[in-house]
Amino acid sequence: MKFFVDTADVDAIRELHALGMVDGVTTNPSLIMKSGRDILEVTREICDLVEGPVSAEVVATEAEAMIAEGRKLAAIADNIAVKVPLTWDGLKACKALTDEGKMVNVTLCFSANQALLAAKAGATFISPFIGRLDDLNLDGLDLIEDIRTIYDTYGFDTQILAASIRSANHMSDCAKLGADVATAPPAVIHKMAEHVLTDKGLAAFLEDAAKAGIKIV
Ligand code: G3P
Repeated sequence: MKFFVDTADVDAIRELHALGMVDGVTTNPSLIMKSGRDILEVTREICDLVEGPVSAEVVATEAEAMIAEGRKLAAIADNIAVKVPLTWDGLKACKALTDEGKMVNVTLCFSANQALLAAKAGATFISPFIGRLDDLNLDGLDLIEDIRTIYDTYGFDTQILAASIRSANHMSDCAKLGADVATAPPAVIHKMAEHVLTDKGLAAFLEDAAKAGIKIV
């Protein structure tokens, strides 16, 4: 499973990238707002840092305007994936932009039917939002499983990009279900390294190392 980082915080991306944890980046208008940066400027900086796909989201709601915004975003760098919402106009923009050879990430997906339409419109990525379904007492992971089944049954090559990931468990669950990509905030990726037994075991080893007077360098 590929790891994308869901942030427009360049320092956080740089740190994870140095560890080989960043196969791509996803942003959205809320994350751009949080960064306090200009969308074109910060997106360019991220694209200079990361080799993999960097999603940048349109803010228009009509297909023609989305296509114009998508072309402008795609001109930033070759690794831009234009992000469009899963609306009828978004699907039109997806088809037009993928026909031009651009990568498109169709976002705000909450149902298997929406994912089926995105694949038919040629989406490079479909972004089902797990956490926001869980917030409604629905099961976001069920959606990942359903989309995996549908895409595999019909051989769609649209990649499942699990989004709205809120916990480390979401990451391993998405990996088990065969999501192609999971995009998570930097804090969730850090959390994946934690285990109480690791902390406990390390404390015991260090205590014994001190007793034994072990020095390595
Ligand atoms: O990848 C989508 C993500 O940014 C939304 O996450 O936590 O706001 O539902 P969240």
